[in-house]
Amino acid sequence: MNTREAATHGIPSFASARDHADTGSLSLRDWLVHLAKTGRVATIDTPVALEHELAAVAKRLDGEQAAFFTRPHGHTVPVVSGFMSKRAWIAEAMGVDESALLARFSAAAAGPLASKLIQREDASCQQVVHTSGIDLHALLPIPTHSEHDSGPYITAGLVIARNPRTGVQNVSINRIQVHGPDRMAILLLPRHLHAFQRDAEAAGDALDVAIVIGVDPLTMLASQAITPIDHDELEIAGALHGAPLPVARCVTNGVHVPAFAEIVIEGRILPNVREPEGPFGEFPKYYSAKEAREVIEVAAVTHRRDPIFHTIVPAEMEHLLLGAIPREATLLAHLRRSHPGVKDVHLSVGGVCRYHLWVQFDKKREGEAKNVILCAFGAHYDIKQVVVVDTDVNVHDPAEIEWAIATRFQADRDLVVIAGAQGSPLDPSTTVGQPDDAPSHLQGVSAKMGLDATRPVVYPAHVFTRVHIPGEDTVDLQALVAADNSAFDAYLSRDHG
Ligand SMILES: Cc1cc2nc3c(=O)[nH]c(=O)nc-3n(C[C@H](O)[C@H](O)[C@H](O)COP(=O)(O)O)c2cc1C
Repeated sequence: MNTREAATHGIPSFASARDHADTGSLSLRDWLVHLAKTGRVATIDTPVALEHELAAVAKRLDGEQAAFFTRPHGHTVPVVSGFMSKRAWIAEAMGVDESALLARFSAAAAGPLASKLIQREDASCQQVVHTSGIDLHALLPIPTHSEHDSGPYITAGLVIARNPRTGVQNVSINRIQVHGPDRMAILLLPRHLHAFQRDAEAAGDALDVAIVIGVDPLTMLASQAITPIDHDELEIAGALHGAPLPVARCVTNGVHVPAFAEIVIEGRILPNVREPEGPFGEFPKYYSAKEAREVIEVAAVTHRRDPIFHTIVPAEMEHLLLGAIPREATLLAHLRRSHPGVKDVHLSVGGVCRYHLWVQFDKKREGEAKNVILCAFGAHYDIKQVVVVDTDVNVHDPAEIEWAIATRFQADRDLVVIAGAQGSPLDPSTTVGQPDDAPSHLQGVSAKMGLDATRPVVYPAHVFTRVHIPGEDTVDLQALVAADNSAFDAYLSRDHG
């Protein structure tokens, strides 16, 4: 492919190449075509540098438009970023109202649909296959995002592997530093993929993996479901789509990948090999330090004939929301099991969609809000601050939360502080007082803070009655407000002496 050819692969031309016009948006390009039709894709048709410039442009557009780069420097494969950077867009991809987002995700997580294995010739992700002489830097436009990043990173790759004990697949997103033509380092936090790798390593084996780049928003979101081990998140993606996800077997290993993906990198996480990875700008908007990490040796790259590379700009809305929505769904279900009065939850953007949880709660008895706070701390170690508010407070509006704290909270009686719990090791304030080389079991020690911003169950009339103007929600402004300001102009131009 040359640059001229690639430039013709702008979004509108995909319309003729849609994968599943009849069965909904199963592929990334279906979704991009939909966004483009509604003015939500910005095409950048001039060359941009892969180092910093591309991420800078995508960051400026994040939350407003997806950025589609037709000419990333030196490459003919376009790059897209920010196509799921608003809650409303994600709800739209699910086909539900924003208020039903968490319920829809929870229902899919509870009712997974087995994937459908299709033949290789039908799998567009394997239209082109490279198994020798692989040079990732030459094949793919992999950006370097932040100022102090150690180099190019794959930030939007679904890492799929099989449990060596049971054979069941797992899907996660992991940051992957590309530091050789066919060699990469991966960050494995202690969850399922980490457990698989440690099991394989204990047996002296490599762990087969596939890194899938360029899938639709629902498959991206499903990868972040918080499930017990041995739940294949591709089956949750199927449930979100309302149809089994078509999958194809990798060319060099037994991993199954979404068949309509843009690009798949096949490889093995090597046993007993660690190489330096980082620094890397992470979701809390700080850098993770350089450390020795697990290493992937690449065996093959497969892709569509005209692939699109997806990159997530770290710490921007696409990254934050991907983590927030599945977590909120899990936290809501967890809190409701013990406290049915919990109505809604929100992980705030200011709290990097991980650390600060706002809970809307129908309190019936004094003290209950503090039980909810304690329950939330136990639900996920990342939760550092919890605010519980009443049902008349919009839990998705930061100004409403601040108002509730300002008018319903007193620090001497409504504050819960727990010292020395486990928090997020990526929160830099947990490192204060630690040596630079603190071993991992000492990292991430954090205080927890809960604010009960609910009003008393019983209160004297008017004390906590929220000011309301009858008609403020129902008044018909269209009928009342004049189409132009001619009456205003006429009045002001009168000579009032
Ligand atoms: C953009 C993005 C990057 C992520 N990077 C990492 C990472 O580098 N390492 C990691 O362990 N988790 C990372 N995560 C979180 C995991 O993908 C997520 O917790 C996942 O649900 C873990 O799956 P598992 O519990 O099935 O193993 C990232 C998430 C997102 C959205």
